[in-house]
Amino acid sequence: MSTVTVINHPLVQHKLALIRNKETGPKEFRELVEEISTLMAYEVTRDLTLMEVEIETPIQKTKVNMLEGKKIGIVPILRAGLGMLDGVLKLLPAAKVGHIGLYRDPDTLEPVEYYCKMPTDVNERELIIVDPMLATGGSASAAIKFVKERNPRNIKFMCLISAPEGIKRVQEDHPDVDIFTAAIDERLNEHAYIVPGLGDAGDRLYGTR
Ligand code: PRP
Ligand code: URA
Repeated sequence: MSTVTVINHPLVQHKLALIRNKETGPKEFRELVEEISTLMAYEVTRDLTLMEVEIETPIQKTKVNMLEGKKIGIVPILRAGLGMLDGVLKLLPAAKVGHIGLYRDPDTLEPVEYYCKMPTDVNERELIIVDPMLATGGSASAAIKFVKERNPRNIKFMCLISAPEGIKRVQEDHPDVDIFTAAIDERLNEHAYIVPGLGDAGDRLYGTR
């Protein structure tokens, strides 16, 4: 079974509190989502492997630890996942980026795919799929399924707020995918919105309705 890591760092929790507030407008919301994503990426990448390298400081030769240089891919789920992309790229500037376009049909609540473009060498990469909200888990589970068809080395899923229902769905459908979230909320409401959540992440990022 995969692991679920709640990133409860005080800076993450403070910024999460700010984006939950309905008075927070799109400009501030976008900035905060990016900042939270950078902070979360620090934890999500904790298992990156290091290698020993010899360098020379101004004083003497020494051995230091540097990243082994694993190939990483970041995959935002459009649209709202785009809000997290730049924050993660700040820490992983050499990562390649794939995009998956999915929206949740408001009537059936089923995810509908409209776009998928992955790096050509995705089979050599470890992927981090990003989306602010894990509600029913339908979108995340479908995105993971599409990406798996391209045989990446490993997949992690990173979100800001999750519902217990979404975590259960992803764990059942994809027991090999570790989940990283800043909060696990109470439940879904009758429209499958996360309670208390933050509303519609895409609308809050881009000022739509
Ligand atoms: C939101 C969110 C997730 C999805 C979560 O996207 O960004 O992708 O809903 O819901 P689920 O877990 O029940 O599938 P939405 O469909 O609103 O599209 P958008 O990002 O284009 O606004
Ligand atoms: N999608 C959102 O953007 N918010 C929710 O609460 C659920 C799905």
